[in-house]
Amino acid sequence: MNDIVRFGISLPKGLLRNFDRLISIKGYANRSEAIRDLLREHLVEQEWEKGEKETVATISIVYDHRKRELANTLISLQHQHHPSILSVLHTHLDEHNCLEVAVVKGKPKKIKKIADKLISTKGVKFGKLTPATLGKDLN
Ligand code: NI
Repeated sequence: MNDIVRFGISLPKGLLRNFDRLISIKGYANRSEAIRDLLREHLVEQEWEKGEKETVATISIVYDHRKRELANTLISLQHQHHPSILSVLHTHLDEHNCLEVAVVKGKPKKIKKIADKLISTKGVKFGKLTPATLGKDLN
């Protein structure tokens, strides 16, 4: 069990009012939980900026599978980077469109490189890299 430390925060009234409004919309039970999440989010951002440690992310792409060359290119890229790509979820959105979500592990620079290659492939309609964390340093 983690040790919990209590500390006070001084804030301008207006800022606190806006914060309370925001956490109520987001559904937080209390300010502490909302502040903990903000801190964790910032720590993960820092982890990605520093780029020293291995981490994880998801890369989502939407494309039309009828473009055979595109589908082949995407598969080749995924095989080429197979040690970094942990798994790929493929969903058929309709008769033509596919959504693929790849879970990728590695240093941020390497993950960004893989994401750039996948997303910039001609014919990919949508692509997004979503940084995540291994969660080790976040309590
Ligand atoms: Ni499909």
